Amino acid sequence: MPTTERQLLQNAFQEFSKASDSIINYYAVLENQIRELKKEVEEKNKELQRAGEYLYNLLNSLPVGVVVTNTTDVLFANKTARKLGSTEVLGRLNSGGQKSGELKNGGGYYRWKKESLESGFESKEVIVFEDVTEMERMKERVERDERLMAMGEMAARIAHEIKNPLGSMELFLSMLLDGKLKKKEKQYTNYILFGVKTVDRIINNILTYTRPKTLVLSEGTLSRVVRDTVDFMKVSAEARGIALKLDTHFDGPSHFDPDLMKLVLMNFISNAIEAISRPDGSIVIDVKEEAEHAVITIADNGVGMSEEVQKNIFNPFFTTKDKGVGLGLFIVYNIVKAHGGYVEAESVEGSGTSFSLYIPKDGP
Ligand SMILES: Nc1ncnc2c1ncn2[C@@H]1O[C@H](COP(=O)(O)OP(=O)(O)OP(=O)(O)O)[C@@H](O)[C@H]1O
Ligand SMILES: [Mg+2]
Repeated sequence: MPTTERQLLQNAFQEFSKASDSIINYYAVLENQIRELKKEVEEKNKELQRAGEYLYNLLNSLPVGVVVTNTTDVLFANKTARKLGSTEVLGRLNSGGQKSGELKNGGGYYRWKKESLESGFESKEVIVFEDVTEMERMKERVERDERLMAMGEMAARIAHEIKNPLGSMELFLSMLLDGKLKKKEKQYTNYILFGVKTVDRIINNILTYTRPKTLVLSEGTLSRVVRDTVDFMKVSAEARGIALKLDTHFDGPSHFDPDLMKLVLMNFISNAIEAISRPDGSIVIDVKEEAEHAVITIADNGVGMSEEVQKNIFNPFFTTKDKGVGLGLFIVYNIVKAHGGYVEAESVEGSGTSFSLYIPKDGP
């Protein structure tokens, strides 16, 4: 090969090897850049995931319920929303053109508001709702207090007016019985006297317990009083095949009138016994502590109450029983009120009732 040609070939080889060196270099740079980018993407992904988790935890720790929907299905529901329950309830919030409202589910009350999501999330809506059960219960208690106070005052006034002529009637009837009466007349007079005495007993109950101003407060162990009453009532419960069980989780001291508290418990236990007609009847009484209250719960698996009955149970003379007077819960209410406490009732028709008494530990 002539020298010039060899020279040219050598040059060409040199050029080629230079070019391939720089390609290798470029490739290494590119590879580095890709590695960097990959790292960056991974980090961004992690950041995104962290932000997602953060948002998820934040939404789940909110005391309000948050639900995201696409107007037909629930896409997301935070922990509080899931606690509210069934998809059926969430679905109810989701349907209809309403933008806000109130909702009752089980024993709870909820207030809710619906907003469409901002741009980029069209056709998605967020529903926020809060649990206002405690507030609603408090409102109901205040309304009930006002109503029962008015009823109590009226009952007390009527009772007072009846008491005087009743006293005279009893006196004259006794005088009649002291005189010479035929057998039949004596029998009838005794019947009338029996009736008058019954009315007198009811009137005395009303006057004594409508506003028991005479609480004899002392520091004591509520669970002991509950245990004594349960032991006392056990005989009549068991005679009807009903198991009476006591659970105590609070044995600390509190302030209350032990005699009146016994009367309260006896009323609840009697009502529970009267409400049970099934063979596996049971009444569970529980004593526990909650912030500033001692709480006694009396739960039975009796007939339960309709909503209509529940609205009236504390009213004087409200009864659904043939031989009931309808004063038991009215008296209970007044005694608990005088202690500065309150009563809550929960009932499911056909499966049972539970009453909870909240008694301030430090007294009224
Ligand atoms: N544990 C319970 N289960 C079901 N219903 C109940 C229960 N406790 C009370 N009730 C309902 O509340 C009503 C009122 O009770 P309350 O104790 O005031 O009167 P009563 O038991 O009917 O008569 P009494 O004056 O003799 O006590 C009852 O008639 C009953 O309908
Ligand atoms: Mg009763």
